[in-house]
Amino acid sequence: MKILVTGGLGFIGSHTVVELQNEGFEVVVVDNLSNSSIDVLDGIEAIRGKRPIFEEFDLRDKPKVQDFFQKHADIAGVIHFAASKAVGESVAEPLLYYENNLGVLVYILQELKKKGGSNFIFSSSCTVYGQADQMPITEAAPVKPAESPYGNTKQVGEEIIRDTCKVNPGLKAIALRYFNPIGAHPSGKIGELPIGVPQNLVPFITQTGVGLREQLSVFGDDYPTEDGTCIRDYIHVVDLAKAHVAALQRLLEDRNESNYEVFNLGTGKGSSVLEVIQSFERVSGERLNYKIVGRRPGDVIQAYADTQKANKVLGWKAKSSLDDAMKSAWEWEKIVRSSN
Ligand code: NAD
Ligand code: WQD
Repeated sequence: MKILVTGGLGFIGSHTVVELQNEGFEVVVVDNLSNSSIDVLDGIEAIRGKRPIFEEFDLRDKPKVQDFFQKHADIAGVIHFAASKAVGESVAEPLLYYENNLGVLVYILQELKKKGGSNFIFSSSCTVYGQADQMPITEAAPVKPAESPYGNTKQVGEEIIRDTCKVNPGLKAIALRYFNPIGAHPSGKIGELPIGVPQNLVPFITQTGVGLREQLSVFGDDYPTEDGTCIRDYIHVVDLAKAHVAALQRLLEDRNESNYEVFNLGTGKGSSVLEVIQSFERVSGERLNYKIVGRRPGDVIQAYADTQKANKVLGWKAKSSLDDAMKSAWEWEKIVRSSN
């Protein structure tokens, strides 16, 4: 069965391609390499011995999207990762984000509508909850006004899918709200490849660990948490990837209760920035050079998932610990640096 994975050479997409192959799906990847490398195809092939079909083009090119769906009329489902994801950049370039994250979404849904329906999985984010009032965060928690154009694209993206599903019963969709994905494939063949200075905590830590960055800045230690630093739910990217297969199977087997569903994907456990640093030091045996600096604007104090819905309904549960995920991130960083 053929599945389209947009953004399939990116961080989460590449790991999901591997898990889809593990389950016997035939995968077609579309990626414009705007935030990934063609070498990721070799990494995927090295793991499973199978190269996904690859089409390199920009999904903002609507005629190309139309041609693609004509050519691959037998696509049974779409997992849509392709998007721009840098929160700060989205503030500076909002139109770029609205075009890439929402324009492309509309083009794909238009093609699925033409088909009379299909199965669609959307990469959403815990960012839609903003600072939730209660921890852990359930899917019933209200969506808060977005802090950034990026966050807004995830909220509006969910609404676009929900509204489209309402009037197209043949279209079945699941929005997956990821918490903080980290780590790399245990094979050491694929992982996160941030371009430039990483904005996210874990790649910044591992790059500091290998000496590529001098020092990690910890953004604030005066938050109302136990050690004063912010709390997040860090989930191993392989666990996250497996959840996509579980969600897809729910749709393919018609087990969904409505044709638009939302799930949190996290571990259910919150970790502070200092706990993440300690985890890194534990698994790497290295001391991390860090200093406490002021708060980063827009950061929420804490966010961790109530995962019961995904556990029960998808039959999926995150298995890896923070140390497991951090170890894989560290091993990957060393592999990347030794090959550069
Ligand atoms: P990523 O940047 O590693 O992967 C995205 C891929 O999409 C890249 O390979 C990029 O080249 C491709 N792409 C982007 N725009 C494209 C276009 N117009 N046409 C074709 N290809 C295009 O990002 P990721 O971390 O793997 O995130 C995947 C998805 O998950 C994104 O939608 C992101 O917003 C969402 N998400 C990510 C996180 C996170 O922390 N990584 C958290 C929540 C949600
Ligand atoms: C985690 C914690 C920082 C870097 C972002 C997006 C969100 C989602 C995931 C896509 C925070 C602290 C970080 C550093 C630090 N992406 N930190 N020093 O902010 O939870 O979420 O990525 O949807 O939308 O906003 O993740 O990894 O940036 O930060 O102290 O150099 O680490 O303050 O507490 P965040 P993050």
